[in-house]
Amino acid sequence: MNESIKHIKEYEANGSPALAVRRWCREFTDREGISPYACVLTFGCQQNEADSEKMRGVLCDLGYAITDDPNMAQVLLFNTCAVRDHAEKKVLSVIGQYKHLKAVRPSLIIGVCGCMSAQAERREKLKRSYPYVDFATGPAAAGKLPSLIASRLGGKKRSFDYTEENEIFEGVPVKRSEDFRAWVNIMHGCNNFCTYCIVPYVRGRERSRRKEDIIDECRELIASGVKDITLLGQNVNSYGRGLYEDYAFPDLLRDVCSLEGDFKVRFMTSHPKDATDELFKVMSECEKAARHFHLPLQSGSTRILGLMNRRYTFDGYLEKIEKMRALMPDITITSDIIVGFPGETEEDFEQTLEALRLVKYDMLYSFIYSPRKGTPAAEMDGQIPKEISNARFSRLLELQNEIAREKNEAYIGKVVRVLCEGESKTDADTYAGRSDGYKTVFFPERRDAGEYVDVRIERADAFALYGRCEK
Ligand code: 5AD
Ligand code: SF4
Repeated sequence: MNESIKHIKEYEANGSPALAVRRWCREFTDREGISPYACVLTFGCQQNEADSEKMRGVLCDLGYAITDDPNMAQVLLFNTCAVRDHAEKKVLSVIGQYKHLKAVRPSLIIGVCGCMSAQAERREKLKRSYPYVDFATGPAAAGKLPSLIASRLGGKKRSFDYTEENEIFEGVPVKRSEDFRAWVNIMHGCNNFCTYCIVPYVRGRERSRRKEDIIDECRELIASGVKDITLLGQNVNSYGRGLYEDYAFPDLLRDVCSLEGDFKVRFMTSHPKDATDELFKVMSECEKAARHFHLPLQSGSTRILGLMNRRYTFDGYLEKIEKMRALMPDITITSDIIVGFPGETEEDFEQTLEALRLVKYDMLYSFIYSPRKGTPAAEMDGQIPKEISNARFSRLLELQNEIAREKNEAYIGKVVRVLCEGESKTDADTYAGRSDGYKTVFFPERRDAGEYVDVRIERADAFALYGRCEK
């Protein structure tokens, strides 16, 4: 067991900062006749969405009501992303848009959390150039909100200190945005140091939650009606390292899938070097393991994979895909690709295109390489000009769209079990859901969110399947 990891049972629920904030909220409610509102705006990945749900849970526990409207808020939090430059620029511009709120409502508390503000120089910039920001902290903000808010309510100085602590807060209340689907963190941080990636610097070293805490959380979710659980971590395949000697991710997956109830389990994200035969075997044996595998390739060129410090070759990667498909022929496979990594030649890029043709991904998340200060790749020779990256990116998308359309058209005539998400966001007369393989499926019959429906597929494009409910 890694004794340096502190598993904290009670975040700060009963400490004096929490009591002080609760008192403030009670007094506000008595005075104004309504609860004070808090708003959390989320940028970035699913991990950030999951962190925001914890922040909202803590804010509710403290006495705030949650709103999506920053204009109503007494506490406004920005949960930020740092993975690409574009994400950081966007966050800073959005923060700037709410400057006026502080002028009309000086009691407003504005906080910046998440990956961007885990970087010292970004916090420094927020402190200097954004005087209306009250505090900046990192991704594990939820557990710290009581003291950060109490301190500002008590008239103390703005706070821009942050140290990545080797802590895991348990028992943090979570306000989930959906009743039928949930994320469950199984670990935090990353030890891989891919040369392009900022995550290990902002989310710290890998640390796993205890299996009992995870399984209890899943059991409670299922009992409350959740039908789809995503086990979440930067690299779920290294779950348990440093905590258990003989309990790893496949064991956890098997245990969660063994819980009673009608639900599915998926997981994100897997590093190919750690995706084992054992994991594929457990998946294929567990009926409740969703038939979806997200396995980020990043590049089809083994030379570039070396420069990225990914520690696998393309051939090794392909072998894993083949093993997976031999056990689960109908599995959906998705991936992440970076275009324009430093030194990427036309030939390297062609190998990525060839990888797409060989693997035939159902869906891709593709990104243009963005240099991140402090990462090795940002200092590498051969940074690729924007025009070349943009052109390669378009070629990649074009090929992938063709492949995805072909893959989706293969579903025409088949019946797919779909978990309904409710009305389609774009068309009020259409309902949307996700298949076991996480494909988006549209159908015209009214069904409730959280209901399983059988849909016969009549049409498909690169992005979705379209059909009618069987019953
Ligand atoms: N530039 C572009 N894409 C990146 N990713 C991570 N860091 C960068 C970067 N600096 C992508 C990777 C990763 C996904 C979450 O984001 O593909 O798998
Ligand atoms: Fe970043 Fe690589 Fe860790 Fe994923 S595995 S979070 S890409 S360093």
